[in-house]
Amino acid sequence: MKVLGIETSCDDTSVALYDSQSGVAENLVSSQVQMHNHFGGVVPELASRAHLVNLLPLVDHLLKSQNLELKDLDAVAVTAGPGLVGALLVGLSTGKALAMSADLPLVGIHHIEGHILANALTNEMVFPAMVLVVSGGHTEVIHMPEIGVYEKLGGTLDDAAGEAYDKTAKLLGLPYPGGPPIDQLAARGTPGRFKFPRPLQKDPRLVFSFSGLKTAVRLAVEKLPPPLNDQDVADVCYEVQEAIVDSLTDRLFRAARLKHVKAVYLAGGVAANSGLRQRTAREAKKRGLHFVAPEGVYCTDNAAMIAYAGWCHLNAGRCDGLDLDSFPRGTLTSWR
Ligand SMILES: Nc1ncnc2c1ncn2[C@@H]1O[C@H](COP(=O)(O)OP(=O)(O)OP(=O)(O)O)[C@@H](O)[C@H]1O
Ligand SMILES: [Mg+2]
Repeated sequence: MKVLGIETSCDDTSVALYDSQSGVAENLVSSQVQMHNHFGGVVPELASRAHLVNLLPLVDHLLKSQNLELKDLDAVAVTAGPGLVGALLVGLSTGKALAMSADLPLVGIHHIEGHILANALTNEMVFPAMVLVVSGGHTEVIHMPEIGVYEKLGGTLDDAAGEAYDKTAKLLGLPYPGGPPIDQLAARGTPGRFKFPRPLQKDPRLVFSFSGLKTAVRLAVEKLPPPLNDQDVADVCYEVQEAIVDSLTDRLFRAARLKHVKAVYLAGGVAANSGLRQRTAREAKKRGLHFVAPEGVYCTDNAAMIAYAGWCHLNAGRCDGLDLDSFPRGTLTSWR
């Protein structure tokens, strides 16, 4: 089965082809980062307009490079939410039009389910599992007893982990999105020069808080003689990364113990973080838990994960009608 995936929930326009026989045939991403970087964050109206300009040419490009026509596909999977509603609507209406014109089944995908199932694109997933969803908009601990069954055990009380990276990067004068430069600079940082908070560590709930981190970073930076030199920035990055990774892995492994799972997984853009991947691998090994991380390109927004999730739904006998609506917010619920 050949599934065309479409992802336009935020600032990446992406289309992909998933073939159930051979895996991901193609995954194209047109990033809007340069345009939004100018404003220090995503401007929703500009994102929608850029999706409108880029989406159909990307679909054309994908079909041509795969030597396919629309009628050769078996289904269209599209992100229905959560995300920026204008951006989602561009993907959704395009997906509907393509499905209708070639008489293909349409399936709407929850973006976070896409991020979680990205783990299955390159590795076999073992269940029951605990998933740490860490992205620009979400930081959640989700128990996954089997494919398609989701139980949210906890989440952030304020900023998402990706937001914490982006906001602290902005304070340090680093580009948007802030995760990749902080990740790189942290590798050159000196441990122990700064101390940033790890809030709620004694809280019995599986909750996170990252809003105090940016204040702590701002206060630390204000104490340093301006301008910051490269080593100052690297040292702050090191401790920012340590503080975030400590909080994330503490809750993930507490949740894993609580539910006696066999595996732990990371999902979302922050899953690309080298510090988080290394620490999770080390802690999982200590506890005898299975752990593999999604390939870097499948951590941040991409349509391959949407196409694959679409195939999983179709395989379970689920598809949507042309009345499918977008949803800007909404928690991930189980298939059954
Ligand atoms: N190597 C990295 N280290 C840390 N953070 C990273 C890394 N690479 C990307 N990120 C962060 O990932 C986030 C983007 O992830 P993603 O694309 O999944 O978010 P989103 O789609 O905007 O949000 P959501 O998935 O919740 O709707 C950004 O905040 C970015 O800084
Ligand atoms: Mg995302």
